[in-house]
Amino acid sequence: MRGMVMVCQTLEEVFEAAAHLVWEKTAACSASGSSFSIALSGGSTPRGLFRLLAAEPYRSRCHWPSFRVFWGDERCVPPDHPESNYRMAKESLLDRVPILPQQVFRIEGERKAEEAALHYERILREQLACGDRAWPRFDLILLGMGADGHTASLFPGTAALRETERAVVANWVEKLHSHRITLTPEVLNSAKDVVFLVSGQDKAAAVHAVLEGPAQPQIYPSQLVKPSFGQLTWILDQSAASLLTSTLLTSWGK
Ligand code: 6PG
Repeated sequence: MRGMVMVCQTLEEVFEAAAHLVWEKTAACSASGSSFSIALSGGSTPRGLFRLLAAEPYRSRCHWPSFRVFWGDERCVPPDHPESNYRMAKESLLDRVPILPQQVFRIEGERKAEEAALHYERILREQLACGDRAWPRFDLILLGMGADGHTASLFPGTAALRETERAVVANWVEKLHSHRITLTPEVLNSAKDVVFLVSGQDKAAAVHAVLEGPAQPQIYPSQLVKPSFGQLTWILDQSAASLLTSTLLTSWGK
């Protein structure tokens, strides 16, 4: 696994660094005439990135026809629900750039949880033609991280952390008292590029624990993200990075 930690002064710089990275990755794909499969993260942080990508200069720079858009996780709600990750991305990005509906593969959170997971697994295996590979491989997976160290919907102590057979599962999250549909660690670790976007002082302790603490993935599930062949990048603002030691930043590169 190759990793990099980028520490930005402000959240706006986090979005700028992430938008530049997305553009670079899509440019490489479109130059080779291939499509670009990206799994979007949910929550609130990525909204700023999506808006930046939907505005100039990135709106003109990115080759949108090559995009195929997926999600790393989804809540068990309809696509127009205020908590829908799809709805957030639709409003802040997809409705503002020339991407056609057939390029967008949302998790159908309105289905029964297990049905939604099985359906999405089928879509991933169709769209990201696994061939002889066991796992669908994304060009880029964007991830966030909660203050408890969860990522996607891989929450501490939940069954999905130990999933080794499925690419997508319906994960029961007791503290939310609901299922979440999520990609599993194997799929996250099959991606060519995985990028965490994390901001805010409330995340600092988890960032330190995940990156510099002992391996405790049941407690800090973001530690499960170790791409087998891909690049792992953490883009942090200063607040989220405030408990990191300089040793880590040096060893991981800036
Ligand atoms: C979700 C996300 C989740 C999110 C983190 C961080 O569906 O909520 O996929 O993993 O990335 O909870 O969320 P914020 O960026 O809003 O802090």
